[in-house]
Amino acid sequence: MENDIKTVLFTAEDLEQRIQQLGRQISQDYAGKEIIMIGVLRGAVIFMADLARAIKVPVTLDFMAVSSYGSGTESSGVVRILKDLNEDVADKHLLIVEDIIDSGLTLKYLWNNLKSRRPASIRICTLLNKPERRKADVKVDYNGFDIPDEFVVGYGLDFAEKYRNLPYIGILKPEAYTS
Ligand code: IMP
Ligand code: MG
Repeated sequence: MENDIKTVLFTAEDLEQRIQQLGRQISQDYAGKEIIMIGVLRGAVIFMADLARAIKVPVTLDFMAVSSYGSGTESSGVVRILKDLNEDVADKHLLIVEDIIDSGLTLKYLWNNLKSRRPASIRICTLLNKPERRKADVKVDYNGFDIPDEFVVGYGLDFAEKYRNLPYIGILKPEAYTS
């Protein structure tokens, strides 16, 4: 698994440090409020587990699963809900937690979908952002790191469901997805 990584972009320590900063910022911004953190399965799970523990205001955790890439590396633009929230979110403060924003198509769809349920507020927190690849206009409230247009894996991010358990984020060697 480690041999398929070309370059390590963010070590476990880099991730830990940035997530503590995000947690402090979010805790300040939501002082006196409760947050429903909405994790986008499956990539956001590991980030969300660490981020939730860096936030000092009360949170509850809920999840959605949407179809995005299958096993390829390009967004199709077609989004389908595979698993919906368990809870009603009307009048609640929602924080969508994503692993990475690429085209933005997935988040644009999710944001509109959640908006129609009349929450008190919706914000977006993503660990990684590829600004060069944006096709849909989305407002990112909390962003861990901007990254170049390369396919990355680890810390929840997969290629064909693999590499999610790497403790760091790395760029995949092209031969690992073309062979
Ligand atoms: P978007 O709709 O194009 O913004 O795609 C977002 C989703 O695509 C993310 O939640 C990831 O699951 C996946 N994705 C986008 N870029 C990468 C990458 O570099 N590595 C792994 N997954 C990615
Ligand atoms: Mg994925």
